[in-house]
Amino acid sequence: MLLRNPAFPAATAQWLQPGFWGEQARPVAVGGRGGAWFVHSDAGEFVLRQYLRGGLVARLSRASYLFTGYRRSRAIAEFRLLQQLRELGLPVPEPVAALVCRRGLWRYRAAILLRRIAGASPLPEAPGMDDALLWQRTGQMLRAFHDAGLDHVDLNCDNILVADGALWLIDFDRCRLRPASREDKPWKRRNLARLRRSVSKRCQGVAWPVLWAGLLEGYRR
Ligand SMILES: Nc1ncnc2c1ncn2[C@@H]1O[C@H](COP(=O)(O)OP(=O)(O)O)[C@@H](O)[C@H]1O
Ligand SMILES: [Mg+2]
Repeated sequence: MLLRNPAFPAATAQWLQPGFWGEQARPVAVGGRGGAWFVHSDAGEFVLRQYLRGGLVARLSRASYLFTGYRRSRAIAEFRLLQQLRELGLPVPEPVAALVCRRGLWRYRAAILLRRIAGASPLPEAPGMDDALLWQRTGQMLRAFHDAGLDHVDLNCDNILVADGALWLIDFDRCRLRPASREDKPWKRRNLARLRRSVSKRCQGVAWPVLWAGLLEGYRR
């Protein structure tokens, strides 16, 4: 099953297969677990991602998941969530297409194609990443997502992108929209605790505790 953004009527299932693009697709070097490519094409600049498992289960089956219906498949769920977040005016990439391929009765493989954010770098590698104001603005952005109810289950600093000073959030696999609320919630704390751990590992070259304090200030404002 192919789900397509009407803005890309030419998209086909082949677009979701890295082999189709040949030299036009190159692996994303940093910040992922593999299975992601930058695609350069006449139709635009895209990011292609296959859903792959990490950890121990990956040894059994790295790319296939238990099928429990298309709407619940990883790719369709992420595509829909991205559309919802965009409708709320939140800074997330535009989904182009999602593909789910059944494998036998019980399993499926999936991929998603997104519009690439031009000139984006993950926060730890962004120019001026040690600018306190950038971290405050990151906190404000995360607060807007949290107020909207977005529970980002893999909130790490490589999933925050900076492009020309603008901030974006990416990588919504398994994430969900909870009821919108400005209140403090345990899941919001869990998101932030995970991000803090990732910052402490990825940003060791700078005075990250100071930057983190700025982020919290922006978040709480
Ligand atoms: N829409 C996008 N525009 C630009 N770069 C992206 C985009 N989506 C992903 N990337 C880059 O690819 C990396 C991996 O993508 P991500 O969605 O985080 O998958 P995963 O972490 O599961 O490998 C990101 O850290 C980022 O560097
Ligand atoms: Mg990621």
